[in-house]
Amino acid sequence: MSVLRVNGGRPLHGEITVRGAKNLVPKAMVASLLSAETSQLASVPDIRDVEVVTKLLNLHGVEVDFNKSVGVLTLRPAEVHAASVEEVDQHAGSSRIPILLCGPLLHRLGKAVIPNLGGCDIGGRPIDFHIATLRKFGAEVEKLPHGIELRAPNGLEGTKVELPYPSVGATEQTLLTAVRARGITELRGAAVEPEIMDLVAVLQKMGAIISVDTDRVIRVEGVEELRGFNHVALPDRIEAASWASAALATGGDITVRGARQADMMTFLNVFRKVGGDFDITEDAIRFRRGSDGDLRSIVLETNVHPGFMTDWQQPLVVALTQAEGLSIVHETVYENRFGFTEALRRMGAKIQVYRECLGGLQCRFGARNFYHSAVISGPTPLTGADIDVPDLRGGFSHVVAALAASGVSHVSGVDIINRGYENFMEKLVALDADVELQ
Ligand code: EPZ
Repeated sequence: MSVLRVNGGRPLHGEITVRGAKNLVPKAMVASLLSAETSQLASVPDIRDVEVVTKLLNLHGVEVDFNKSVGVLTLRPAEVHAASVEEVDQHAGSSRIPILLCGPLLHRLGKAVIPNLGGCDIGGRPIDFHIATLRKFGAEVEKLPHGIELRAPNGLEGTKVELPYPSVGATEQTLLTAVRARGITELRGAAVEPEIMDLVAVLQKMGAIISVDTDRVIRVEGVEELRGFNHVALPDRIEAASWASAALATGGDITVRGARQADMMTFLNVFRKVGGDFDITEDAIRFRRGSDGDLRSIVLETNVHPGFMTDWQQPLVVALTQAEGLSIVHETVYENRFGFTEALRRMGAKIQVYRECLGGLQCRFGARNFYHSAVISGPTPLTGADIDVPDLRGGFSHVVAALAASGVSHVSGVDIINRGYENFMEKLVALDADVELQ
């Protein structure tokens, strides 16, 4: 397991580039299965999640060529075949993406075997919405010790789906199944994140008929055949915001090429309220601390889009340890997303987590024994420590904390960061960080 040695206490400054969103690219790759024609996806980052889904598609007979230098993926799903339980099992725990293969494989083969899922340990990560939705389309779903087996001997029928919570994954599941189901599908309570809208754009290019109405209602008219697509993935707004928070936390100045204001409006408002400043040009956003250099505490609640994204909160919490006063963060999307604060406390941060909902939003985790609210008191000087990465976004935050801390830190388990941040080490070096992989 790689250990990153960080000599902190220096501002990050310079320019980096973000490419396609980790939370869209693998879904578009899965969507290619819905057609026998070749598809092309551009602005694809060289990250582990792309590798994992490539292997899973290869297993089912899809040829995938990735030209990493230009970031273009070519997918050839002409010959799709079933994979054995043993073969699929090797992908158990790899990511959350396999669950999205259900609809496309049922349309192509009439059956599917899906391994147990992976993904960051930030909550239970149940798939009950997914299973319920697939059964509504007419799929037979059998849970097995190592995953699930599905059949649709009579094909799939359009249906009405009402999600109890605007789940991104369950919305993608419904879209990827509805586009070739017979008849109309109406999805209520849908997630409407920019990554979802980009997946809708991909499916529309393939020939799907999808309308996104007001109040989170999506309607799909199923079609017999779909074509290949040619698409440029939207930029990764989570990575862009992660580097923006790194600029705040270290008192630096980072230009993120590829960042798109439209996808980051809520983040930019919070960034400015905390005391950050930014300049927006055609194809980049320059993030830095405001002229007076001080950071201000805030009250923040994460939420589904267009709210403040749950994946934005971890790196921002590191910056809040340097803000004057008490900040309150109420995490309403995942029940267990403050695990990373333990390491920050060991570095000198004053962070207390609570089971109560510290915010006005209706939250599913109130009084259920989940530590999903945090109070951060600042500013507190951070000092280097030996810390271990808990998950992807928490891992990025650990490195930011080490960069903001005075002295040397050793961050172990940094490999996980490559799942979602392309060329992570190269970017740190480009931003003048004093780091060494050991
Ligand atoms: C996607 O996860 C992203 N991952 C997450 O990013 C992101 O945080 C999340 O959406 C919310 O925006 C990918 O796209 C690969 P959900 P997903 O279904 O689809 C509950 C990152 O670091 N739920 O919207 O798994 C669930 O427990 C990752 O990039 C059910 O109860 O998220 C959670 O509380 C982290 N039953 C809430 O919904 C279900 O069947 C949101 O989950 C499904 C979800």
